[in-house]
Amino acid sequence: MENQDISIEKIKEGMDLRDVPTKIIIFPRLASTMEAAREEVQRGTGDETLIIAGEQTAGRGRSNHTWFSPIGNIALSYIIYTAAANFPYLIMVASLATAHSIEYVTGLRTQIKWPNDILIKGKKVAGILIESVFKGKPERDLRYAAIIGIGINVASNVRDINEISAVATGLEDELGEKISREELIRAFLGDFKSHRLDLVDGKTPYNEWRDRLVTLGQKVTALWGDETLEGTAESVDESGALWIRRTDGTLTRVVAGDVTLRNK
Ligand code: BTN
Repeated sequence: MENQDISIEKIKEGMDLRDVPTKIIIFPRLASTMEAAREEVQRGTGDETLIIAGEQTAGRGRSNHTWFSPIGNIALSYIIYTAAANFPYLIMVASLATAHSIEYVTGLRTQIKWPNDILIKGKKVAGILIESVFKGKPERDLRYAAIIGIGINVASNVRDINEISAVATGLEDELGEKISREELIRAFLGDFKSHRLDLVDGKTPYNEWRDRLVTLGQKVTALWGDETLEGTAESVDESGALWIRRTDGTLTRVVAGDVTLRNK
């Protein structure tokens, strides 16, 4: 059987030195990279620490969903330290960097479904989960560790998982050929870094993220807490929230939740 391990050397191959993470840790198998990342933060790891798992046994998605990540796919958590004010932008940056890296490596066209699902032809190919750990002293420097969890379905085994086979797809199935996960991770890191530097220069990812959302203008059902909202996804604001025009004409602002496109 071919070696399925992800190689740190291959990720770094030809990489711009400014994009190389300060630390990369690869585990063949983990419950979830999110927990491993949290432990790294508690141990005092630096900015741009990357944790990768060959497979996860208890991968987590948004809204307490399970994230399936069998061997051959990408499961990573990237730790960065930032001001809390940047959090909404991180969701946008992470989605754009994931979408761009998939497009760069495969040539396939991706869509972003609010807030940060990456789709190919309407099926989910990647998901993003961002969590924070407070590390700063409020009176000094308000800094948080953001743990950016990215799961990308690369291998064909996604179609064998009954729970998701109807709504998810894998890059190799879509492309019809093998894909280098190292190249994908390298492209993600480079794109993420350039967006991050843009943020420092005051350039936000909002316009590009908004323009790429497949959700806007569509009839949607949103599950938000205990509430189910039906209406048309009208706009998103700079904080990343989605505005839904309900059937009774009122506008509701949704900051988190699961959104289903009804005409898809
Ligand atoms: C979602 O779409 O619901 C988010 C999925 C996020 C999955 C990634 S895989 C790497 C990291 N570790 C996890 O347990 N979850 C995230």
